[in-house]
Amino acid sequence: MTKKIGDKAILQDVTLQVPTGGFVAVLGPNGAGKTTLLKILSLLLPPSAGQVKIAGRPAEAADPSLRRQIGVISHSTLLYSHLSAAENLYFYGRLYDVGNLPLRIESVLEEVGLRYYFHDPVRTFSRGMQQRLAIARAILHEPALLFFDEPYTGLDQHAIEILNGVLRRLRDERRTIFLITHNFEQGLDLADRVVILRRGRVVFNEETASLRGADFKKLYLQKVEG
Ligand SMILES: Nc1ncnc2c1ncn2[C@@H]1O[C@H](COP(=O)(O)OP(=O)(O)OP(=O)(O)O)[C@@H](O)[C@H]1O
Ligand SMILES: [Mg+2]
Repeated sequence: MTKKIGDKAILQDVTLQVPTGGFVAVLGPNGAGKTTLLKILSLLLPPSAGQVKIAGRPAEAADPSLRRQIGVISHSTLLYSHLSAAENLYFYGRLYDVGNLPLRIESVLEEVGLRYYFHDPVRTFSRGMQQRLAIARAILHEPALLFFDEPYTGLDQHAIEILNGVLRRLRDERRTIFLITHNFEQGLDLADRVVILRRGRVVFNEETASLRGADFKKLYLQKVEG
C-alpha cells in the first residue's frame, strides 16, 4: 500500500498482515507516517495505491456494517464540546446501533472513571478527562478492530492504569488492536508485534516474543537512524 499527498510520498510499499486478535504496537519518529497509516487502516483515508482487507475481504469505507466493527482514538478527540459526556456517547451509540445503550453508557463511563461527570458538557472537561471520554467512545460499540493513536496523551497516572486495563481486556477478548505510542515499554508490554515506521516505510516488523531481553531502545535507534 502507498499513500501520496500531492507528489510527496507519505507511505511507501507498506505491507502488513495481522491475524484476528493480534496486537500491534506502531513505533517511529514524528512524521514517519504512523497516523496516516492508522487513518488508512481504519478507513478514514483512502490509500493512493493498494488496498486494505478486513477478514480477508477488501474493506469498503462506505460499508456501515464495517464501520461498526472499528473503534478509533485519534489526535483529535472527535467529541462535541457543547454536549455532555452522556450525550456524546448517545450520539455515537445511536450511530452504531448499540443495543441496551443507557446501560452500556453507564458501564463505559464507569470504566474510564467519568461516572460523576455524566451530565457535564465536554467543554468543561480537562484535557485528560476528554481523553478518557474519547476512550469510552472508542470502545462503546465493542468493535472488533481498534486503532489507538497516542492514547496516553494527557492522561494522569491513574488514567494510564485504566487505559492499560482496557487494552488488556480488549486483548484478552481477542480484538485486533493497533497502538501508536512513543512509550516503548508500554508498547512492548502489551503488544505481540512491533512495527517501526521510518520515512513512510516499514523498517522493522517482529513478534515481541523474539525481543525479550533485547535492548530494544538501541535496536529502535539503529532502525530509525540507520
Ligand atoms: N494532509 C497532509 N498534507 C500534507 N502532508 C501531510 C498531510 N498529513 C500528513 N502529512 C505528512 O505526512 C508525513 C507523515 O505524517 P503522520 O502524521 O502520519 O506522521 P506520524 O508518524 O503520525 O507523526 P507524529 O509522531 O508526529 O504523530 C509528515 O511528513 C506530514 O507532514
Ligand atoms: Mg501521529
